[in-house]
Amino acid sequence: MSCRRFVEIYSTRIADYLKHFESERSQVLVDIEKACEERELEPVSPDVGVFLRFLVNISKCRRVLEIGTCLGYSTICMAQGLTSEGLIETIEVDQGRASEAEENFKKADVASKIRILHGFALNILPTLKRDYDLVFIDALKTEYPQYLDHSLRLLRKGGIIIGDDALLGELGWGDGAGKKALDEFNRRMCNELKGVLVPLGDGLTLTTI
Ligand SMILES: C[S@@+](CC[C@H](N)C(=O)[O-])C[C@H]1O[C@@H](n2cnc3c(N)ncnc32)[C@H](O)[C@@H]1O
Repeated sequence: MSCRRFVEIYSTRIADYLKHFESERSQVLVDIEKACEERELEPVSPDVGVFLRFLVNISKCRRVLEIGTCLGYSTICMAQGLTSEGLIETIEVDQGRASEAEENFKKADVASKIRILHGFALNILPTLKRDYDLVFIDALKTEYPQYLDHSLRLLRKGGIIIGDDALLGELGWGDGAGKKALDEFNRRMCNELKGVLVPLGDGLTLTTI
């Protein structure tokens, strides 16, 4: 079955089926979903949020780097799976969104585990040092290959890289540049780094180094 056909089926029948088993989300997550819908912002889908929380929890991550905070939905999901000594640093270029995310972290009672780095990802990433267990990539799609280069430099051995929206290019989103960058990112993640693309949400590509 082609990827497009699978996603078509996935995003209707299977997604409807999965709704029966959605775990209860904290009120702050439900509020962020609503706020994002009203303003056409794009957090990860609830199933991806649960998956991220699960992955952070089973991998016993201590240091997480997120590229693309928005209102903090995925950050909160990961923080809920993080050990009490863990820290998430999350990069966001939009000051208004970063401030809202900070408020949401307080409401979710995870503010002590999160530090927002405000600015353009490609300006901030070169200033960071190698010390991360997991990098979650979810900002500008055309910059995914560059985020991947930085992730490889910043991750400890055995660390995990996750890229969101991996199938957006294939689903016809954006211009040619976005698709080209996502294709390159997926190819390097899956072929060179022996990772996997999972059709969850808008597609997640994962690997470990
Ligand atoms: C898809 S949203 C992130 C969603 C978030 N991970 C979640 O699931 O709740 C992408 C975010 O990346 C930010 N962004 C876009 N380009 C950026 C850049 N070059 N540097 C840093 N942040 C950027 C946008 O302002 C936006 O809030």
